[in-house]
Amino acid sequence: MTARILDGKAIAEQVRSELKGTVAGLTARGIQPGLGVLLVGDNPASRSYVTAKERACAETGLLSEEIHLPATATRDQILDVVRRMNEDNRIDGILVQLPLPDSTIEQEVIETIRPDKDVDGFHPVNVGRMMLGLPAFLPCTPHGVLQILHRSGIAVDGAHVCILGRSNIVGRPLANLLTLKSKLGNATVTMCHTRTRDTARHTLAADIVVAAAGRPSTLTADMVREGAVVIDVGVNRVPDATRKSGFRLVGDADYEALLPKAGAITPVPGGVGPMTIAMLLHNTVEAAVRRRGGR
Ligand code: GUN
Repeated sequence: MTARILDGKAIAEQVRSELKGTVAGLTARGIQPGLGVLLVGDNPASRSYVTAKERACAETGLLSEEIHLPATATRDQILDVVRRMNEDNRIDGILVQLPLPDSTIEQEVIETIRPDKDVDGFHPVNVGRMMLGLPAFLPCTPHGVLQILHRSGIAVDGAHVCILGRSNIVGRPLANLLTLKSKLGNATVTMCHTRTRDTARHTLAADIVVAAAGRPSTLTADMVREGAVVIDVGVNRVPDATRKSGFRLVGDADYEALLPKAGAITPVPGGVGPMTIAMLLHNTVEAAVRRRGGR
């Protein structure tokens, strides 16, 4: 079997072209959806994610406004920016790029964002509402994974999905969404993490394996059943002297080794990453509609 490549870039373009119509309609009524972006410090990966998000905003007709603080910024300076964005009527969604240089203040920063502008879906109000199946901003990466599966015609209903990784940003919310009684849910979910014994026993039993551990080669070909679907959420920089940048991006799954075995697989880059951005735009447009007037 040769795996079908799940082209996240193409699916993201489809989502973005759907959004363009809504954005054009809002803008014609004087409502341009706006994203406020806060970047603290100079982490190169964070810089590159933020630039990609801002470019996507411009291409889809959204306003984006970036505030860049130095890594030495104090808790009060960071919270001040968030509070100003909370009050700014041009800003419908607020994105504080994580990780922050001081990770101990991340939760306080997240909880300072107004829940109705929390387009990352990280505020406890949105996390709780999501878990209950109530309308909420869904976190962008898990929602992007669900959209890739749905738009590729891969049935989740009744499937056994095994997730590697228990982060608050990906693994845990994805497990929740997949188990909801909903159009994109109804799966049976197993979560594996660093303390799981015999991870392969779980992955080998799964119809769909999601690798979201943040480490290359977490999912090897011997861990996946013939014909299973592999969704690779990992984005890891590994040294590569043949590249001008000095690195290349790899996922958490052994892509080349899985190609002849999996039924379908997402590449890195060009898989889940573009979908994360598309779902951020989706949430920002939704925030503008909710806050500043109906469709
Ligand atoms: N860092 C890694 N992923 C994300 C994300 O989805 N949102 C934010 N704000 N930071 C991140």
